[in-house]
Amino acid sequence: MTGTDPRVMAERPLTLADYARLARSGMESATWDFIEGGAGEERTLAANLEAFDRVRLRTRVLSGGGDPDLATTVLGRRWAAPVGIAPMAYHTLACPEGEVATVQAAGAAGLPVVVSTFAGRSFEELAGAATAPLWLQVYCFRDRSTTQRLIERARDAGFEAVVLTVDTPRLGRRLRDLRNGFRLPDGVRPANLPSAGADYSSPADHGRTELDPALDWSVVPWLRSVSPLPVLLKGITTAEDAGRAVAAGVDGIVVSNHGGRQLDGGLGTLDALAEVTAEVGGHVPVLLDGGVRRGTDVLAALALGADAVLVGRPVLHGLAVDGRRGAADVIDILLEELADAMVLTGTRSPAEARPSLLREVRPSL
Ligand code: FNR
Repeated sequence: MTGTDPRVMAERPLTLADYARLARSGMESATWDFIEGGAGEERTLAANLEAFDRVRLRTRVLSGGGDPDLATTVLGRRWAAPVGIAPMAYHTLACPEGEVATVQAAGAAGLPVVVSTFAGRSFEELAGAATAPLWLQVYCFRDRSTTQRLIERARDAGFEAVVLTVDTPRLGRRLRDLRNGFRLPDGVRPANLPSAGADYSSPADHGRTELDPALDWSVVPWLRSVSPLPVLLKGITTAEDAGRAVAAGVDGIVVSNHGGRQLDGGLGTLDALAEVTAEVGGHVPVLLDGGVRRGTDVLAALALGADAVLVGRPVLHGLAVDGRRGAADVIDILLEELADAMVLTGTRSPAEARPSLLREVRPSL
């Protein structure tokens, strides 16, 4: 990027929703659909947003706290705020610098990035650009050695944790992509996977043929046997699976429904959060992603026991609008809104967030 996009000058985006609108107006529609879409009728995609809309925060006054302290500690590392970047394939779809721009933007704010198996830029390049923790998201390939090599390479580059995505034994039917016959544009490829003999052009076809459809709990000891890094499971939405994960020895849980891209008709993640934190909160860190679009959403998740949230699509919107600067602005807006929400609810630090901050304003479905 040479200068700030004229669209940003004309309509200064002030919210993550503004960034989404601007990103959409400048993006090829099939690419927008790939990023934005969910599985099936997109009921779970909508449920993620709706769950946040259904809660309101209780204002508290005269709490005398001054500026809130947003910082928190996850797996022994300081995060400048309880927010990280969710793993998403191919940030290079949004801007040529791809994940390098994301890592720079997050690092400037002191926030970690979870780098996807399908990152468009190399782990080594990202490690070189990082000033905050990097975690690796992995899928288990039918050929386990592919997953093992990813982990070894990321560990050697200095990545600090492995996040295994467990909600994808088969890929959700993403109708927008099926209708569009979506294929990756030229030049957008996974930078950390073998190029010989693989066809990555259709993410759906590749997922179906290459990812292990029969993963079970024995994958946790296997991950432990190949790497000393902490292991988190991403895609857990029930107390039963959360309890089982902790019994299996995981170091953390990400409550996620893959941004509504997998089981259509599943719960919104904020609705699933309370049963997970009731089961395992305090034993291992619990993170949440899906539908976080405002600082008040971050605080709502903390109130229900999350240690931190991960943000997905809005970061790609920022990248699409203005590269690294756009992603950095998305992060700054979210943290500014979080600080506002904390001050106005008398919450001085993330650890102070409690369920009593929230009131449900409409009955759930
Ligand atoms: C994803 N997500 C995802 N998850 C994962 O574990 N590995 C991956 O490679 C991807 N790729 C991916 C691509 C795109 C374009 C999107 C939108 C999402 C899911 C992601 O980590 C996260 O769960 C959701 O995106 C969070 O929801 P929001 O913030 O996008 O609503």
